[in-house]
Amino acid sequence: MSHLRDSAAAPRRLHFRAVALALVPLIVSSCNDVFGDDDDDGAPGTAPDPVMENAEAMIAEGRETFRFDTFGDEAFWGDTLRLHEAVAGAANGGVGPGLTPAQALTLGLKLDSAAVGSDILNALQQGTLDLNDPANTLELLRRDAVVGVDGIFDTVQGNLVSIGITCALCHSYVDDSFDESIGVRQDGWANRDLDVGAIVALAPDLSAVATLLGVDEATVRTVLGSWGPGKFDAELLLDGKAEKPGGGSSATLIPPAFGLAGVNLHTWTGWGSVTYWNAFVANLEMHGQGTFYDPRLDDALKFPVAATAQLGHVKSTDDLITPKLGSLHLYQLALPIPEPPEGSFDPIAAQAGKELFEGRARCAECHVPPLYTEPGWNMHTGAEIGIDEFQALRSPDERYRTAPLRGLFSHTEGGFFHDGRFATLADVVEHYDQHFVLGLSPTEKDQLVEFLVSL
Ligand code: HEC
Ligand code: HEC
Repeated sequence: MSHLRDSAAAPRRLHFRAVALALVPLIVSSCNDVFGDDDDDGAPGTAPDPVMENAEAMIAEGRETFRFDTFGDEAFWGDTLRLHEAVAGAANGGVGPGLTPAQALTLGLKLDSAAVGSDILNALQQGTLDLNDPANTLELLRRDAVVGVDGIFDTVQGNLVSIGITCALCHSYVDDSFDESIGVRQDGWANRDLDVGAIVALAPDLSAVATLLGVDEATVRTVLGSWGPGKFDAELLLDGKAEKPGGGSSATLIPPAFGLAGVNLHTWTGWGSVTYWNAFVANLEMHGQGTFYDPRLDDALKFPVAATAQLGHVKSTDDLITPKLGSLHLYQLALPIPEPPEGSFDPIAAQAGKELFEGRARCAECHVPPLYTEPGWNMHTGAEIGIDEFQALRSPDERYRTAPLRGLFSHTEGGFFHDGRFATLADVVEHYDQHFVLGLSPTEKDQLVEFLVSL
């Protein structure tokens, strides 16, 4: 929900989300059918199952956090970078031309059709909504319809006075059921259309980032412009490395956040567990207000920026992150793996591909079904999988994490492997065929690809 901020001398934020959250347990206990309690608790009349009730309440709370919680990061995106001013535009109390709905969609932002409202949906359908008017972007933000973006509005003037981001910005998609980029939320899907760098570069004041990195603002803008859609560099603010040795951006692809239950280490380079990474991202990348501890970031050779700024020792007076980590974790573990659309692969070829995957092609030695990563320490050097070590060396364990392969069809845009170096799954199979000297025939390679699409 969009937040309202009083324009009175001491700004007071009305956190409606927090109120909604407080109501969650009430809703859960009064809507048993919605949450399928009848099945979980045994026959009607038997005592409720406290474990199932707890899980349901936590998952409901985790979903609210994942979709709507900024953890107070508007202090960074709004108050420090003044991103809201560029979104609003001069005509609406900001600076510059403002962000039109058409531009927002081109940047890869998605609209939640359930929140857009029937009047705007009708206008969209009839082509009467002015997609070139930034005031309409503000109205969409007011309705909380822009996935992952939280607009904070002044209660008196109705101006956009700050802006925050949530996990859903990068890790949610919509099903396009209304129109392209407008539909029902799909939490956990990687938004490979989203140009994070271009969005951040809209901000009129990037001096805070420039100061942290020890470069000028123009350099920061060049780096942000080098990322491109579907990518973000989570290590930039730790090591200041913006380019790979041979040239090219050091940003990585946004991975999906579904299907992670049972997977030990997370991120492309295995920084830690899901909850480790959630704390990392909420504090260090989103710039929410919380607590974060990781003395591995004190390594000044590997993480010069983080070591200087003491990023492994964050302690905000008001911790808005830690109390939410438990339910946020459980919610992500509960996110189902999407099924590939019917007809998107040939089942007979996929079956033959499965046999190759688990047999002669040796894929299952690392991608162990049904997790498709190793139970245990799921990490490998670049040399083992035939790629360079650059990104691995930017992480504590200097390894690449075996990517869990389920739902690959949902993130084909931007390519495969951490930096999208392989444009297609056929390119991935070709790479392994050469690296492991598998001697696969063209038919066998196709079969492996069909199997990967079916996962
Ligand atoms: C600005 C975009 C962005 C935002 C916002 C963001 N993430 Fe991510 N997320 C990424 C990228 C990029 C990676 C890969 C990082 C890497 O490997 O270095 C990632 C990795 C992850 C992973 C690891 C997935 C795997 O395959 O193991 C999880 C889990 C995750 N994010 C959850 C979250 C949660 C929860 C939030 C909110 C607290 C969040 N992310 C906010 C971009 C984002
Ligand atoms: C030695 C362990 C190992 C073996 C064997 C292996 N992989 Fe991988 N695989 C990995 C690692 C590690 C990554 C992550 C690479 C990265 O982050 O850039 C990966 C990534 C992938 C990806 C990209 C996933 C994504 O989200 O971009 C695909 C697809 C894949 N492997 C398929 C296969 C197939 C098919 C085989 C057999 C021909 C195979 N792998 C054999 C370890 C392995």
